[in-house]
Amino acid sequence: MAKRTRLVVLFGGQSAEHDVSCVSARHVVAAADPDRYEIVPIGITRDGDWLRSDAAIAALAAGPAELPDHLTAAGTAVEPRATLATVDDDLPTVVFPVLHGPMGEDGTIQGLLELTGVPYVGSGVLASAICMDKIVSKRLAAQHGIPQANHHGVHADDITDALPDLLIDLLGVPLFVKPANLGSSVGVSKARTRDELVAAIELAATFDEWIVVEECIVGREIEVAVLGNREPQASLPGEVLPAAEFYSYDDKYLDGVAETQVPADLPEAISEQIRSLAVTAYSVMRCEGLARVDFFYEETGRGPLLNEINTMPGFTPISMYPKMWEATGIAYGELIDRLVELAQGRDERRSRHRSTER
Ligand SMILES: Nc1ncnc2c1ncn2[C@@H]1O[C@H](COP(=O)(O)OP(=O)(O)O)[C@@H](O)[C@H]1O
Ligand SMILES: [Mg+2]
Repeated sequence: MAKRTRLVVLFGGQSAEHDVSCVSARHVVAAADPDRYEIVPIGITRDGDWLRSDAAIAALAAGPAELPDHLTAAGTAVEPRATLATVDDDLPTVVFPVLHGPMGEDGTIQGLLELTGVPYVGSGVLASAICMDKIVSKRLAAQHGIPQANHHGVHADDITDALPDLLIDLLGVPLFVKPANLGSSVGVSKARTRDELVAAIELAATFDEWIVVEECIVGREIEVAVLGNREPQASLPGEVLPAAEFYSYDDKYLDGVAETQVPADLPEAISEQIRSLAVTAYSVMRCEGLARVDFFYEETGRGPLLNEINTMPGFTPISMYPKMWEATGIAYGELIDRLVELAQGRDERRSRHRSTER
């Protein structure tokens, strides 16, 4: 039998998407082939404490998909770097950071993993940080001719009394206002009037010092799953049909009432155009491993418009990312194998460019 790989599954984390990360991790742990992997789950609490595998397994098994805040009191806390350091056997190790949002998907954990020197699933520090920032990623997309919503990025220090009218002149109403670095629709609001715009900016500023204001797009929400390193492949597109006025946090994770359709019902040419744009956006942002690339599609207008790239998309069996691959011919379990291979492939490739002799 081929040598097994130790797969360290990092889950939980400090962002608003803690719960969905726990659900994703539980399914990854259940689906990974035990003949191929020795699974080591490590839970990160909302407070940022890392929990050793036994406690993490117990928390996972207990459901309801959430780690208690203070498992550390039981003396199970571990030091992040010590946990990830190669243990005293020669089993190859790969870390799968199944973490969403800030402090997980934004390059911070990736930086720690770089320092530890262990191969890990998904994008590196740069792509993770770029894709988490809705202003910087839009700038890169624009530079590469990728169509997107008209928008304006602003720093909280530069908010003046004149700004709301200026934004309305520039982008019209209604407007979407978002913290630049967040996710799961937290702090996102739709403003229909000047007063609502002022309130929306204030709200967004409580979550991040950088704020992005966008024109409101009337269109369908189409997503594409991308997989690969230097030669990424795009899945068939899927569609999200938000139940509320927009795809909110509650809709995504609590009520779960948003309907999805995979594959999306699109003309072949549009489907191909969106898949190609997804691969371009993925490469431009230097993504690796996996990402879900989200679009708006104006049927009678500008066509597909890039919304955002999620470098660690939800990974439950009913999440869009695995569902889109399933529809394209890659089953959930195989997806895990491919991601581990991509992590090892990138590590190998990069080690060839990491000469210690300067
Ligand atoms: N410019 C926009 N026009 C119309 N709807 C939008 C716009 N921006 C966001 N939305 C709606 O808000 C949801 C969340 O916004 P998004 O930018 O995807 O933030 P998050 O990173 O939190 O997922 C989208 O899925 C969509 O339903
Ligand atoms: Mg989104």
